[in-house]
This record gives sequence, structure tokens and C-alpha cells, in this order.
Amino acid sequence: EDVQLEERFEARIAEGEFIEPRDWMPEHYRKTLVRQISQHAHSEYVGMLPEGNWITRAPTLKRKAILLAKVQDEGGHGLYLYSAAETLGTSRDQMLDALHTGKAKYSSIFNYPTLTWADVGTIGWLVDGAAIMNQVPICRCSYGPYARAMVRICREESFHQRQGFESLLVMMQQGTAAQKEMVQDAVNRWWWPSIMMFGPPDDQSPNSAQSMRWGIKRISNDELRQKFIDAAAEQAKVLGVTLPDPDLKWNEERQHYDFGRIDWDEFWRVVNGNGPCNRERLAARVKAWDEGAWVREAALAHARKQSRDAKA
Ligand code: ACO
Repeated sequence: EDVQLEERFEARIAEGEFIEPRDWMPEHYRKTLVRQISQHAHSEYVGMLPEGNWITRAPTLKRKAILLAKVQDEGGHGLYLYSAAETLGTSRDQMLDALHTGKAKYSSIFNYPTLTWADVGTIGWLVDGAAIMNQVPICRCSYGPYARAMVRICREESFHQRQGFESLLVMMQQGTAAQKEMVQDAVNRWWWPSIMMFGPPDDQSPNSAQSMRWGIKRISNDELRQKFIDAAAEQAKVLGVTLPDPDLKWNEERQHYDFGRIDWDEFWRVVNGNGPCNRERLAARVKAWDEGAWVREAALAHARKQSRDAKA
């Protein structure tokens, strides 16, 4: 019977149909999705911290309103993604426990510090730009709730990318020499970590082959990284910044930019908990969870009271 179920499942994937929560699915498919969706949710959640750091110091009311909206969007993305993962039979408590105890991964990129105001614009341009490149194909992933959540997330991400680019453009075109230097310095620091976000090279990516077969991944890590580099190299010219890679060069034959060697040792150091801000980020999430305990208790007490009143 299982063989038949598996054959039907494979056939539906091949037909490009969505798999929905109540449908039969192989255990490994379920586990892969829980892993990826929960890591994605944690990334959005932890991702609020580096930029949240600048909300009180945004240079104008307009920039502050934009930044507040963006950080709130990220909290919202985390919530849709936790909900999508819950449809697979895991609980939010389990996922958050894995994050808070350091068992769960989240994107390497959020373990770097935001040293100046230009980091906020640079995160919008490069980090959110990379996130969109990776996430647009997930709108077509085979698991319905994940694919649907990604549609709204991608629209919001593209606003995030645009506001970041625009904020840098203003500094580059109308700013002082010091502001231009600040932008260049931020770009120098964020460039390599941004292109690491796409994950290890395809031939060192243990999950890729199966995820591609199941339609969870539609485009490979390396192919997305190349698409992102090609787009960013052109955008950098518009901005008037240089990307910190002497080997970055248009290759006429390949019709792509060539680029220099990525420091994968740094990537794995950060993924394994030893980046510049890993401890700080995790401590901030644990503190927020602990300090929110009274809100959870009050909400539960309120819900209990409501249901008692409804019954009476
Ligand atoms: N940061 C941290 N861990 C990473 C990263 C990264 N940038 N890239 C890969 N990894 C981890 C993988 O999670 C995997 O670990 P695991 O097996 O313990 O789960 C391991 O490195 C090997 O990588 P892959 O085999 O390539 O893993 P996978 O097929 O899951 O591909 C990818 C990784 C591309 C990140 C995929 O999971 C994905 O597309 N996720 C959804 C998008 C996402 O999470 N974005 C978050 C950042 S963007 C944002 O939030 C704004």
C-alpha cells in the first residue's frame, strides 16, 4: 500500500501539483520541509535584530517609519512560516525550543554586526536582494502552505530591497564624502556574507539533490548565487560603489560575471555558532522569550476565561 501511495505522491510532484497538509507524504519529505521552513522562520525572527538595532537612531522620521515597517514585516514573515511548518505536525514550542537551545540553524547572514546607518541600506539592497532571488522560486515549491506563504513574503521583500537601494542611492548621490565612504565600507563588509547566504556549492550541498527531485528547491544554490551576482554587479555601477572582489569580471563567453574564491571556512564557522554575533543574537532571542512569559500567561488566562464565559 505504501508503495502505491509513494507512486501517487511522486506522480503528483511530477505533474506539478501542490501537496497539502492532509495528503500522504514520505516521512523524509515532511522532515525536509520542517527543517527548511523552520530554519527560514528562525532567520526572519533573528533577522529583526541587526536592523532593530537602528530603529532608535534612524536619521529622519521617514527612514524610521520605513525601518519600523520593515522589521515588523519580518516578524510577520516568521509567523506565517512557523504556521506553515505547524501544518506538518510540529509545534511552535518545539521549533522555538530548538532555536533557543542552539540546536536549530538560521541564516548565517544575521550573525554579522550593523556598525553604521549605511548597514541598514546595505542589508536592504544585498541581503534582501539575495533573499528574494532565493525565495521567488519557493513560491512554486511543491508544498502548498509554504508556496502560498512565500507569495506575500516576496512582495514585502521587494519593498525591503527597494527601500535599501534607494537609501544608499541618496547617500551616494547627495551625501557628504564621509557618507559615501560609509556606504562603501558597509558594502565591503556585507558583500561576501551575502553571497554565502545561498548555501554551500552544489557539489557540497547534502540536501540539494533530493530537494530538487521533490520540487522543494527549483533552482540550485550555485545557480541562484550566480544570478544574484550578475544583478548586483550591475546595480553597484548605478550606485557608484565597488564590490570588494578584484576577480569580479564580465565573462562574455559565459554571459555571466566571474567572481573570486568564497571563504567557505568563514561560512561554516558562522553556521556552526562562531560568527561575530551568534552568541549575542541567541541571547537576545532567549531574553525576549523569557521577558514575554507574562504576555503568554495573560493571553492563556484570558482565553480560558472567554471559553468559560461562553459556556456559562
Ligand atoms: N546559513 C545557515 N545555514 C545554511 C545556510 C546559510 N546561509 N546555507 C545552508 N545552510 C545549511 C543548511 O541548512 C544545511 O544544514 P542542515 O542539513 O543541518 O539543515 C547545510 O547548511 C547544507 O546546506 P544545503 O544542503 O544546501 O541545505 P538546503 O538544501 O536546505 O539549502 C538554503 C539551503 C538554500 C538556505 C535553503 O534551505 C533555502 O532555500 N531556505 C529557505 C530560504 C531561507 O531560509 N532564507 C533565510 C535567509 S533570508 C531572510 O530570512 C531574509
